[in-house]
Amino acid sequence: MRIVRTTDYKDMSRKAANIISAQVILNPNSVLGLATGSSPIGTYLQLAEWNRKGDCDFAHVSTFNLDEYRGLKADDPQSYHYFMQKNFFGLVNIDIANTHVPDGSNLDAEAACAEYDRIVAEAGYPDLQLLGIGHNGHIGFNEPDEAFSKGTHCVDLTQSTIQANSRLFDSIDDVPRQAYTMGVQTIMNARRILVIASGADKADAVYKMCFGPVTPQVPASILQLHTNCTVVADEDALSLCPAE
Ligand code: F6R
Repeated sequence: MRIVRTTDYKDMSRKAANIISAQVILNPNSVLGLATGSSPIGTYLQLAEWNRKGDCDFAHVSTFNLDEYRGLKADDPQSYHYFMQKNFFGLVNIDIANTHVPDGSNLDAEAACAEYDRIVAEAGYPDLQLLGIGHNGHIGFNEPDEAFSKGTHCVDLTQSTIQANSRLFDSIDDVPRQAYTMGVQTIMNARRILVIASGADKADAVYKMCFGPVTPQVPASILQLHTNCTVVADEDALSLCPAE
């Protein structure tokens, strides 16, 4: 695991965008794995700015998002589809037909997840997977568990995740209780992984991800076993990690 220390969120976003931009410049047909949440918004904005300036072309890029709430339609403002359209897809020259998010509107969990696994595999898995990390060490919606998950599956969200995500809803009762998420194995199939983290509230999870035992109780800890994983995190998020 390579750790890149940044001063703050802005610096983290710029450095992460640089890594994604380099990937897309070197391979214009890149398959990118993408995340939602607060962590990647600055990265997406930076990429959008470079796209406007003509420095980063997404015309031939395809994308696969990690997850989606079960029961939300793509045009629901709380859906991850909508988030991606607003914060990234709508800001760059990507072909929307090449963007993929699990189909939360399909309540048949088995069919929705199997179809997503099929298209991710058909695309050959991401060249680069962008990840945020939850306070409990989750990646995607893979929560602490007795075993690492494999393919795309339906999960019951933990109370801590419902609580953390409620900031984006009118009330905690509106937060969906289930989601479809890529499994840990699918995430590990990406050729490169880029984790971003900012803020003191992520320090414990970042420490456990990078230096704790590899355990499904901290899903992100498995990234220690990936052969090409870079963590770009700010001082606050790295405050519990030893300075190199
Ligand atoms: C989002 C996702 C989640 C988030 C994580 C951190 O697609 O998969 O695992 O990356 O919950 O969220 P933020 O960035 O909002 O702190």
